Amino acid sequence: MKAFVFLLVVIVISNCLAVDRNNFKTCEQSGFCKRLRNLTPNKHFHILNVDSLKVEGNVATAEVSSVNPEGDTKTLQHLYVFKLSALLDGTFRVELDEESPIYPRYRTQLALVAEPKADELKLIENKDNHVILQNSQGHKVTITADPLKIEFLDKAGNVAVILNEKSLLQVEPLKKKDVKVDGDENAVAVEEPEGTWGENFKSHHDSKPRGNEAVSLDVAFPDADHVYGIPEHTDKFNLRTTTSSDPYRLYNLDVFEFELDSTMALYGSIPVMYAHGPDRTVGVFWHNSAETWIDVENHSDGTVVSSLVNLVTGSSKPKRVDARFMSESGIVDVFVLMGDKPGDAFRQYTTLTGVAPLPPKFSLAYHQCRWNYVDEEDIRTLDENFDQYDIPVDVYWLDIEYTDRKKYFTWDLEKFRHPAEMVANLTAKSRKLVVIIDPHIKREAGYFLHEDATDNGYYVKNKDGNDYEGWCWPGSSSYLDFFNPAVSKYYADRYLFENFPGTSKDVHIWNDMNEPSVFNGPEVTMPKDCQHYKPPQDGLEGISAYWEHRHVHNEYGLWYIRATQDGLLARTDGRYRPFVLTRSTFAGTQRYAAVWTGDNMAEWGYLAVSVPMCLSLSVAGVSFCGSDVGGFFKYPEAELMTRWYQAGAYQAFFRAHSHIETKRREPWLYDAQTMGLIREAIRRRYALLDFWYTLFYEHTLDGMPVMRPLFQHFPQEKETYTIDNQYLLGDKLLVRPVVEQGVTSVQVYLPGRESGTIWYDVDSYQAIPANGFFTQNVNMAKIPVYQRGGTIVPRKERVRRASPLMAEDPYTLIVALDSQNTAQGSLYIDDGETYEYKQNKYIYAKVSYESSSLTYKIVNDQASYPTRSWVERVVIAGIKTAPKSAKMVQGDKQTALQMTLHKGNDVLVIRKPAASMGQSWQINFVY
Ligand SMILES: *[C@@H]1O[C@H](CO)[C@@H](O)[C@H](O)[C@H]1NC(C)=O
Ligand SMILES: *[C@@H]1O[C@H](CO)[C@@H](O)[C@H](O)[C@H]1NC(C)=O
Repeated sequence: MKAFVFLLVVIVISNCLAVDRNNFKTCEQSGFCKRLRNLTPNKHFHILNVDSLKVEGNVATAEVSSVNPEGDTKTLQHLYVFKLSALLDGTFRVELDEESPIYPRYRTQLALVAEPKADELKLIENKDNHVILQNSQGHKVTITADPLKIEFLDKAGNVAVILNEKSLLQVEPLKKKDVKVDGDENAVAVEEPEGTWGENFKSHHDSKPRGNEAVSLDVAFPDADHVYGIPEHTDKFNLRTTTSSDPYRLYNLDVFEFELDSTMALYGSIPVMYAHGPDRTVGVFWHNSAETWIDVENHSDGTVVSSLVNLVTGSSKPKRVDARFMSESGIVDVFVLMGDKPGDAFRQYTTLTGVAPLPPKFSLAYHQCRWNYVDEEDIRTLDENFDQYDIPVDVYWLDIEYTDRKKYFTWDLEKFRHPAEMVANLTAKSRKLVVIIDPHIKREAGYFLHEDATDNGYYVKNKDGNDYEGWCWPGSSSYLDFFNPAVSKYYADRYLFENFPGTSKDVHIWNDMNEPSVFNGPEVTMPKDCQHYKPPQDGLEGISAYWEHRHVHNEYGLWYIRATQDGLLARTDGRYRPFVLTRSTFAGTQRYAAVWTGDNMAEWGYLAVSVPMCLSLSVAGVSFCGSDVGGFFKYPEAELMTRWYQAGAYQAFFRAHSHIETKRREPWLYDAQTMGLIREAIRRRYALLDFWYTLFYEHTLDGMPVMRPLFQHFPQEKETYTIDNQYLLGDKLLVRPVVEQGVTSVQVYLPGRESGTIWYDVDSYQAIPANGFFTQNVNMAKIPVYQRGGTIVPRKERVRRASPLMAEDPYTLIVALDSQNTAQGSLYIDDGETYEYKQNKYIYAKVSYESSSLTYKIVNDQASYPTRSWVERVVIAGIKTAPKSAKMVQGDKQTALQMTLHKGNDVLVIRKPAASMGQSWQINFVY
């Protein structure tokens, strides 16, 4: 009943459609953000004791003390341990913790894929207040002892990153409440800032049993023009200066009807930032799972006087962007990624936090979702309609209403009487089902999950140590504590087929609301003083025996999706690749799930922001990203819907979704012309599925984003630094979706002028030499996509109802020539769903063109995947002179080939080379 009341509230609010900012803290309302932001620099000097410096293996350690610099004599305040590690692949790690904290401080647990691998670290010099160290690549670290400053130098000896340049380093020492001075009962407790032992926000009280424990560090990026990263926000891809706004906030929150162009927190928090300029790209990864605020300050825009020297000499001010990370708890733990190309920095980050596993191929195809497809009949009709209207689709989704009154791992057996048969019907047509499973557990007597969790003590505890109760979709709810390995194991086991009847290997999982969302909690989430499991250890009791939610908040969702992935793997004994979708993100999320950008709106601005949002996530490791096609709230009219499908077809995760209160909007409910355009957009996705799949395979090898900012491949070209309505797929396709209403042309930037790059419009194969911006006419059918000259893209032109039906279909290779008349590409083929590729059951081929030949060479020698696919057509765009004849050579077989040259656009089409993709081949040209 109460759940129903809540739904009414949602409906009422959704009529005004704007975020309720009052529900979320500003920096001023967040105790530590306000405290740290108001801290005057230089008040608390940190000094490194050079005599204590030790270098052992790849690690340098030293004692750091904070001092009170007021007056003549500096009085020691507190002792810290400083640690600098050199890691493989041009990465350093800096850690600072109290030397003897009264309680252990929390260290983030799940973000790193493994213990980072060590590089060598050489001590070059230690004298006169300076220490110089060097890694195997020739990056130097210069530490100034007093006041503490750490400079990281690139291989050429230029300072690339500076830590604590502004002396904003802070690790607030832990204190015990009510400690009387010198044990004197009558002495007054040391005066402490207001809010140290408790803070209020609206009607919520946070008890803060450990007092203040915030950490902060400033980072300077000399020579940088821009900084990027730290998703998830709705801002531009290149981050803005925050001196006159709130800092960017990272605190996983269910922000109802989030607003655009905002530094406010959203569902995800990935604390990695990149700085880029023509000289280099570097990054910092702030390894902390507590609430974090990040200030960005720009020294290039003339608002900050850079240095006295420049004032005196009158020379132009050097560029620099500064950032400052402030977290509520934890330790200072920061990775410095030395780059120096953009791709290097992106790779260094995925080396630390892992790559996305190869997804099951169907998950890169088109997904149809709605809150809710109400019953079996609804799903059956939906499925019939996709076939009737000849629109390809791989997956249908069920939102929360499929359950027995929001009890997960159950079905509403009135509406879904035969879930197993429903799934079998879909599977028979090579389609899949995804069902939602959320982390809130309905507190209902008789519900097995609630009873098990209560009996075994599996729930997160409130500040008094009792099961925490919040309010979410099911009404009164509790939340499993995944930090306890027994709970994660228990939860993973719920996914076993015997525990979740109706599911099969073709049912995959959507984890929503995992920030976690708590409707009646502070800022719609769990109170910070809730208690999480900590492994029992002798001597740890009271406050030391558990972690507070405050310490772990941003990684709660990560523990959750990890348990889900474990469960999906276990149900098939590790045979089939699972697909999981998550809303909450943290560093490392890519290892477990794809991500969508949450509850957006059917408005043009939300379509536009899907590009920078996914770009930010992609460079932060999460390439498998998409936004709700059509917009979740409100109803998209035909033009917006068409443009959204066209944009979605070129984003990694391609799913239409809508709110329960909105009008139905499946493609055939629009006029015939609109439906035709939507069908065509989806068909384009299917034609390129093997290209997408190959990109995701290559991501597992090199950690590169699949969706890339232009500057990754054109790092010198300044115009690209602020372009975030275009992007690259791999290094091959440039996409500029139309995200503006009513336009008949758009401006497209084609990078690579200096290097003579040629781009080819994929619709016409028309060559367009790179020359900055040009005007592209766009009718409603046009999706501006360009293939870079010098690349080869595989396509499948026979689009079918679902992607598995296309597995053995033939390929068309699109060869786009560069100015040297060469081109390269690659193709990955496997069974699309198992792990047998790990036993060499796959094909990975490099395709290369030069004027005398086109070569398809399988590079994994013992390839044994038995594909029946063959090459049906080769299209060579940008060919100036046509060869007289062409011959296919595969094994002992030689075949003369038919060719047609299209003079108008210099395209040569070779028909039916008919070579098998299971074996290397070559086409030789004679001129
Ligand atoms: C810094 O200022 C320069 C010059 O105004 C501007 O081009 C750049 O976009 C700014 N960068 C940031 C991070 O605000
Ligand atoms: C499965 O398909 C059969 C044949 O079309 C149909 O009769 C049956 O109702 C379907 N079952 C479900 C649960 O949709």
